[in-house]
Amino acid sequence: MIDLHSHILPGVDDGSKDMEESISMARQYVENGIDKVIATPHFIEESDSTTKDENKLVLEELKRNLEKEKIDLELYLGNEIFISPDILKYLREEKVSTLNGTRYALIETAMFDIPTSMENVIYELCLKGYTPIIAHPERNIKVQENPNILYKFIMSGALTQINLPSLEGRYGEKALETAKILLSHNMVHFVGTDAHSPRTRSPKIKRSLDILRQIVDEDEFRRITKLNGKAVLENRNIPVDEPLKYEEKSSSLGRFFLQVFKNSK
Ligand SMILES: [Fe+2]
Repeated sequence: MIDLHSHILPGVDDGSKDMEESISMARQYVENGIDKVIATPHFIEESDSTTKDENKLVLEELKRNLEKEKIDLELYLGNEIFISPDILKYLREEKVSTLNGTRYALIETAMFDIPTSMENVIYELCLKGYTPIIAHPERNIKVQENPNILYKFIMSGALTQINLPSLEGRYGEKALETAKILLSHNMVHFVGTDAHSPRTRSPKIKRSLDILRQIVDEDEFRRITKLNGKAVLENRNIPVDEPLKYEEKSSSLGRFFLQVFKNSK
C-alpha cells in the first residue's frame, strides 16, 4: 500500500516528535504492509510552518537513518497545505511541495468549515494544471451535514482522501458514517493514515483495512489503497468514476407522517 498522508517527518509539525519516533513509525508502516509513504507536514500560512527546503533536509536525514536501521520503506516529500487563496503563490515560490513534486497537491480545510473561496481555489489550481486532493473530508462538519459539497468539487477536478482510522470510528460516529457514504458514492480516491506518532494516531491500519474490504469491492480496494497512489507518485493521470449524488433517506418517522398525509387526502 501507498500512504500519501503522513506526519512521519521528525520535529517539523505536530506529528513525530523526534527521530526515534519516526523510526518506530517506519517500522509500523512496514509491519502493516505499507511500503511507500509521502511525508506531508502541515503548511499553514502565517504560522511558523517549515518550508519545502527545510523539510527536504529532514527527509534526507530520516532516509539515512532508515537505511542504517535496515527498514525497507520508501519515503517521498509533500505537504498538507491548509486551504488559502494564496496556495498558487506558495507553490510558485516553492514554499510548499506538491506530492513528490507532481501535479497532485494535498489540501486540508478546518474541521468546522468549508471556506467560500474553496470552489475558486480548486478552479484556479486545476486551471494551472494542478490536481487538488482534499484531505479527510469525512471529518469536516459541513461535509458531514451535506456530502454533496464534495460532488461539485470532484466535478471541478478535485480528488479526495479519507483517513483509514475514520472507518474504525476513531474520529466519531459522524465521520464513520460520512466515510461510508463517500465510499459508496464514488467520492473517495485515496485512503491514507494521517499518522502522527507511533502511539495514538499511528500507522497501525490492519483493522481499518479489514473494515474497508467489507465496504468496497476488491477492484476499488486496490485502486484507493495502491493504484491511484502509484499514479500520483509517477505523476500520471487518474481515471475516476463519476461521483454519485447522495440522497438522504427519509427517516422512518418522516415516512410515517408522509403516509398519514397521503391517506388523509
Ligand atoms: Fe494530516
